[in-house]
Amino acid sequence: MDYKIALLPGDGIGPEIVGEAVKVLDAVGAKFGHTFSYEKAPVGAAAIDATGNPYPDETHEVCKASDAVLFGAIGDPKYDNDPSAKVRPEQGLLKMRKSLGLFANLRPLAVFDSLAHRSPLKTEIVRGADFLCVRELTGGMYFGRPQGRSEDGNTAYDTCVYTREEVERILKLAFEQARLRRGKLTVVDKANVIATSRLWRQIAKEMAPQYPDIELEFMFVDNAAMQIIQRPTHFDVIVTENLFGDILTDEASVISGSLGMLPSASIGEKAALFEPIHGSYPQAAGKNIANPMATILSAAMMLEHLGLSTEAAAVRKAVNLAIEKGVVTEDLVNEGEAPASTTQVGDFVAGNI
Ligand code: IPM
Ligand code: MN
Repeated sequence: MDYKIALLPGDGIGPEIVGEAVKVLDAVGAKFGHTFSYEKAPVGAAAIDATGNPYPDETHEVCKASDAVLFGAIGDPKYDNDPSAKVRPEQGLLKMRKSLGLFANLRPLAVFDSLAHRSPLKTEIVRGADFLCVRELTGGMYFGRPQGRSEDGNTAYDTCVYTREEVERILKLAFEQARLRRGKLTVVDKANVIATSRLWRQIAKEMAPQYPDIELEFMFVDNAAMQIIQRPTHFDVIVTENLFGDILTDEASVISGSLGMLPSASIGEKAALFEPIHGSYPQAAGKNIANPMATILSAAMMLEHLGLSTEAAAVRKAVNLAIEKGVVTEDLVNEGEAPASTTQVGDFVAGNI
């Protein structure tokens, strides 16, 4: 089959890591008889520089016309230190999520046995941790209106809004993901305080009879923040609203000790986007040292999404082999061993499909 992939490399190391994922996709195509045709489009600071807009209309059209989007990273220090900047790369990301309807952000967290010792937590706590965070991505306080300041500037407000429709579709996706995994779903909320959380909890309880095979539990977000550190193996699928999910997924991402290995997917009714969890790492841009694994594993999630499970498994297997053989970038290399470059890691994974 022929698949149309939109490539949004973005800023910093984005172009390099996306390049390696493309290498791996081409190897998959050659091995399994698919063609991937790519169309590149600008996003983030790169797009601001070129067009003044962090998510230009042309980029949106390219994304809409694709079967899937592979995204690198956005963010550039020249915008971070300028609070007066009118357009920021991050706005492009939010606009892209909203306009492509990417309502679900899936972040799997698996601790690779051979990398467990890199975790900031004790090895016996993290070993075997394997859970999926499902974050609602187009609602809540990120997009709720009104948002702003009073006329005198001394009062500020945000609005957290969720409709039944938004809550049902994300919970449905989370229940279904739990079914594909170990059958346990934790709904994380703050239902003791917040009205939107009470709606989430009510709807989850209403839906539960449709999923008798799923063990459903509720957990307050403050408690969940503790449990993720104390008992990460407790979780299978976590589902939560946008802002809680933003915070908890960053927390979860560090416990594996290898941020450079973590992929993510953002799924909508029509579009799907795949990207590494880490940022644009501007200090490493152009140096051929960044870890491309998270982007390569994001491409594996993309293959899965396109219905190509065997192909996705082949990519994961090649990644595992690279780790076993120590073909890894400097963030993962053992002391005294020489790190592989970005392109060497990509070549090794592509060569072992
Ligand atoms: C993320 C990021 C974004 C978010 C920022 C850059 C707007 O932190 O993808 O988690 O808050 O959603
Ligand atoms: Mn975040």
